[in-house]
Amino acid sequence: MARFYVTTPIYYVNDAPHIGHAYTTVTADALARWHRMCGDDVFFLTGTDEHGLKVARAAEANGITPKEQADRTSERYRQAWEALDVSNDDFIRTTEERHYKATAELMQAAFDNGWIELRPYEGLYCVSCEAYYVESELDEGMTCPIHHRPVEVLSEENYFFKLSGLSERLLAWYEDNPGAVTPESKRNEAIGLIRGGLRDISISRTSIKWGVPVPWDASHVFYVWYDALINYATAVGYGSDPERFERWWPAVHHLIGKDILRFHCVYWPALLMAAGLAPPKRIAVHGYLLVGGEKMSKTALNQIAPADLVADFGVDGYRYHFLRDQAFGPDGDFSYEAMVSRYNSDLANNLGNLLARVSTVVERKCGGVGPAPNPDSHLRAVAAEVYEQASHAWQRIAPSEALEATWRLVREANASLEQAEPWKADPGPDVDAVLGDCLEVLRLVALLASPALTRASQEIWRRIGLSSDVTAQRLPEAAQWGGYPGGLSVRRGAPLFPRMTA
Ligand code: MSP
Repeated sequence: MARFYVTTPIYYVNDAPHIGHAYTTVTADALARWHRMCGDDVFFLTGTDEHGLKVARAAEANGITPKEQADRTSERYRQAWEALDVSNDDFIRTTEERHYKATAELMQAAFDNGWIELRPYEGLYCVSCEAYYVESELDEGMTCPIHHRPVEVLSEENYFFKLSGLSERLLAWYEDNPGAVTPESKRNEAIGLIRGGLRDISISRTSIKWGVPVPWDASHVFYVWYDALINYATAVGYGSDPERFERWWPAVHHLIGKDILRFHCVYWPALLMAAGLAPPKRIAVHGYLLVGGEKMSKTALNQIAPADLVADFGVDGYRYHFLRDQAFGPDGDFSYEAMVSRYNSDLANNLGNLLARVSTVVERKCGGVGPAPNPDSHLRAVAAEVYEQASHAWQRIAPSEALEATWRLVREANASLEQAEPWKADPGPDVDAVLGDCLEVLRLVALLASPALTRASQEIWRRIGLSSDVTAQRLPEAAQWGGYPGGLSVRRGAPLFPRMTA
């Protein structure tokens, strides 16, 4: 059985979840769902990143302790994911005991291997990034290139990770693993960072207390990023269950936004190497979801909460939009109008109408009993092609292409209905043939779209008379043409996707 371990970044608890965070999480969820249908052994992890100055300062501003800040916001993330039908197998919090243990063990291994040492340090620090910069990396006015806010001068004695000594090994790893970072442009960016010359990096702080203590020197805590990255190892048993860790590592697929490429594609593989562990199998990088052409941020006041869109479009409408319309990789501009138009065309008109028409005509012409599909239908070959394309697209982490392929079946079924016009014909074999094929298409689309449409897919399944659970089906067998048995009661119901007006 193939193993598929998929992760999202762990989100900072200084701020509430918005559609940018949800974008990564829903994509990871859809992938996890697809792989579960393929019969893979799946482990899907998300969680919250709770240490660091940013969180400590947010807590201070809210007049609460960092732990209270973390408890509250972490809970909001949990709720947001639940409301979007996110099926994570674990939710990690970096303030958990298991994570302290794993961080201590991994860092101790890197220290014992000679990759960490104490040095004085003074640097330019961006609190929002939780990162030091050198002057040449800053924008005009000594501002952070990501947050456009002034950096601060921090000076302290830090433990340093001797990253520069790992450049050659990192480049060799990139050379040997061409698919490790996707898309290609991001892989090149990471290689460029390494070739550009890596400096040793400061990984501990004495100035703050809100962090995981350095195991060999309790006056330091690890700088937030270095405990954060280790969450991916913690959750599969590093530091507590070596056998379990063996089972899942390094078969991990990290999904990340492009803002955290350097940490995941350079520092993380290097840190794993320093600790004597294998780098991750795959890091898939996506672009920003922009609102009005800008990245969402607290300061720009342009954050959109997932719940506000779910109220209008439902969970399925929400998930479908982000998976279908925001291709994984490039930046994408979010627009409410585009969301309405995609919802109306693909869900209300195409899929919703197919279901409504088929169930109405089956009731009127077939006594409510669904006919079986035709084994020689012209749609059989279409279904086979669609499955191939969709399956490859899910493997490549291209949900928009997978769904686009899937909707070809919907369009072809609608076209065959329009051509045959069974609503005008007398009951008989011709009517049965076209309706049987369309019922089969509905079954296949419910199946193939279920990673996106977590609710509607089960409802379509039920309305065409199938009693099982759509997620219990196994691919590729269930995607074979002819799985709809016929002879089942087909139910009519309220429109699955009521049309929206912008
Ligand atoms: N805590 C770190 C990650 C540590 S992982 C070991 C962090 N957290 S974050 O809360 O800022 O979330 C960053 C991630 O949220 C991005 O990498 C991306 O996956 C997602 N997004 C946040 N804003 C986004 C957009 N505007 N668009 C798309 N995704 C975005 O960084």
